[in-house]
Amino acid sequence: MPGKVNLTLEILGRREDGYHELRSVVMPVALCETVSVQTRTDGKITLETVGEGIDFSGLADLPMEKQLAVKAVRAFGSATGKSDLGFDIRVVKRIPIGGGMAGGSADAAGVLACLRTLCAPEMSDEELRAIAAPVGSDVPALLCGGTALMEGRGDRVRPLPVGSAEAPHLVVACPGFSVSTKDVYAACDAGNPAWLRRDGATEACRAALEAGDVKALAASLFNGLQGVVDTLHPVTMELREALLGAGAAGALLSGSGSSVFGLAENEEQARMIASRLMGDCRVLVLRMLPRGV
Ligand code: C5P
Repeated sequence: MPGKVNLTLEILGRREDGYHELRSVVMPVALCETVSVQTRTDGKITLETVGEGIDFSGLADLPMEKQLAVKAVRAFGSATGKSDLGFDIRVVKRIPIGGGMAGGSADAAGVLACLRTLCAPEMSDEELRAIAAPVGSDVPALLCGGTALMEGRGDRVRPLPVGSAEAPHLVVACPGFSVSTKDVYAACDAGNPAWLRRDGATEACRAALEAGDVKALAASLFNGLQGVVDTLHPVTMELREALLGAGAAGALLSGSGSSVFGLAENEEQARMIASRLMGDCRVLVLRMLPRGV
């Protein structure tokens, strides 16, 4: 299950349930978690997590019931009345933890997709997304499988058409620390309201994707959480400036951070930008997956 970047993320207001009303274009990227699920006959749930190229030690302290993969099993069980079923879950993590690329949500989405195949193949995509929404705000969009428009708390999603042009590549800079999404949204409430939205950004992004126009896409990039995260972690702004200085067509904070991405026209340009990025952070060159895996 791939991770994602938000090409736009407009924060439209605070909701009564404490969450925020969003409008966002979400696109999967070719950095995937591998999730496998096997049924057990004794009703127990086990979770084995291994990391490939990332430090996931922060997750080790998280109680099992708080792991999104296990929350997904619980949500599926109570929605389908199959809460007595047991599963062995194995997750190979490759998406940086707390990097704003939805690694934990990808684990949950992967588990839900597996559980549907194993236990409820007749379930519609819409029903599966309804189960996914309370597990995490990014999970329904990931289940869409391709580029999606995400609205509401993240629970209203629909696929977006994309043009046939080659998708741009991304250069992702990972500063190596985790950002708490909850803390960022809380800081937004106390921060500058002008940072939160830019009217027309999402429409411009949709049009650029349909036209396959990288320059227009770069101009439409917007993240309403960026101002707050730059204030909390100035390195995120420095990394964007470094990406732009190295030739990226546009650069943006990914989700609530800490990762930052730059847009490149093709893989060759992306590799050149990556090689120019100095410093001690991890740099990845990734294909975007406008139509999913
Ligand atoms: O839904 P999820 O658990 O991924 O959200 C993490 C945190 O991000 C929430 O606890 C909430 O503080 C914040 N959030 C929000 N509005 C959203 C999505 C997330 O305030 N639409």
